[in-house]
Amino acid sequence: MGAGRIGKMHAKIISSHPNTNLKYVFDVNSKFANEVATSTSCSVANSPEEAINSKNVDAILIASATPTHTKFITMSANAGKAVFCEKPIDLDINKVNECMKNIKGTKVPIQIGFNRRFDASHAKAQQARVNKEIGELEMVVITSRDPEAPGIDYLKAAGGFFRDTTIHDFDLTRFILGNDPIVQISAFGEVLFDKNAQKENDHDTAMFILKSKKGVLIHINNSRRAVYGYDQRVEIFGSKGMIISNNQTPTSVEKFTNSSTNIKDPIHFFFIERYEQAYKDQFNEFVKCLVNKTKPKVTFEDGRNALIIANAAYESYKKGKVVNISF
Ligand SMILES: NC(=O)c1ccc[n+]([C@@H]2O[C@H](COP(=O)([O-])OP(=O)(O)OC[C@H]3O[C@@H](n4cnc5c(N)ncnc54)[C@H](O)[C@@H]3O)[C@@H](O)[C@H]2O)c1
Repeated sequence: MGAGRIGKMHAKIISSHPNTNLKYVFDVNSKFANEVATSTSCSVANSPEEAINSKNVDAILIASATPTHTKFITMSANAGKAVFCEKPIDLDINKVNECMKNIKGTKVPIQIGFNRRFDASHAKAQQARVNKEIGELEMVVITSRDPEAPGIDYLKAAGGFFRDTTIHDFDLTRFILGNDPIVQISAFGEVLFDKNAQKENDHDTAMFILKSKKGVLIHINNSRRAVYGYDQRVEIFGSKGMIISNNQTPTSVEKFTNSSTNIKDPIHFFFIERYEQAYKDQFNEFVKCLVNKTKPKVTFEDGRNALIIANAAYESYKKGKVVNISF
């Protein structure tokens, strides 16, 4: 479902996976659907129902615009089809709760597209935290900055910086913390450079401080414009040291000349390049769940909890106060 920016990428991953075939693509934009059908040799479905109810379909991947997700999750789960759904589940917690009610008892696996959990470096840092390689966890610092701001059409549908973008960082924080829930948040947002963000009453720059139940302090900073590329860094600090999951460059070549030292390639441009392997690995995990009948590692509940944190961030921003969070 959905053959836009990320849908095209998913279509390629599904059609090139050794254990899956892409049977149908559906998009309200038939040009996009036809492009994917041609490049992956699948059929264009005439309606969502044609694909979802087909006996030849085992699973639905939802990569359409965010407001369509809960409808497609409900239709798919009630047709007994496994679901992989892009983040966020929706922007409205009431729609998410209603969806949860409507799919109760269906028991199909549902995985949410928080791809950063599948990045080898972030995952290794998280595992080191679990193994107490840095002793007791005390602080987490996440820097997540996009190379450039999206167009106004994307902004209109995205639902705001905190729910669309920072939601990844809220989920990554929950992943690192494990069973220590976030209990408080303080959020700041500004429009410093992006005229579209200003028109849409959105933000292009944001900072957050969060606290976990055990007292771990977390800092997240986001920008929609980092002139040097897609800046993705995670720092995990504890009583016995620190782990950094750093930015990556396409090659490890470093240049030394009479005017500079340690000059490297620019870091990856954006999410498709930086998280290329993570997108493949999250899909591999989804396929494994279907084959082995195991529970997905990133669940509907994880998607719901990340949205609850994003909502609390907006409340904090609007009130200018620290907000308590309960799930
Ligand atoms: N995990 C990630 O890293 C990541 C990155 C980008 C986007 N996303 C998420 O993926 C989703 C799509 O984002 P995008 O950047 O590809 O946006 P996009 O605008 O490029 O694509 C969305 C597509 O959905 C289609 N669409 C709209 N309504 C539809 C409907 N009723 N049925 C079928 N198709 C419909 C549109 O025509 C469009 O082609 C969003 O929910 C976004 O938050 C996730």
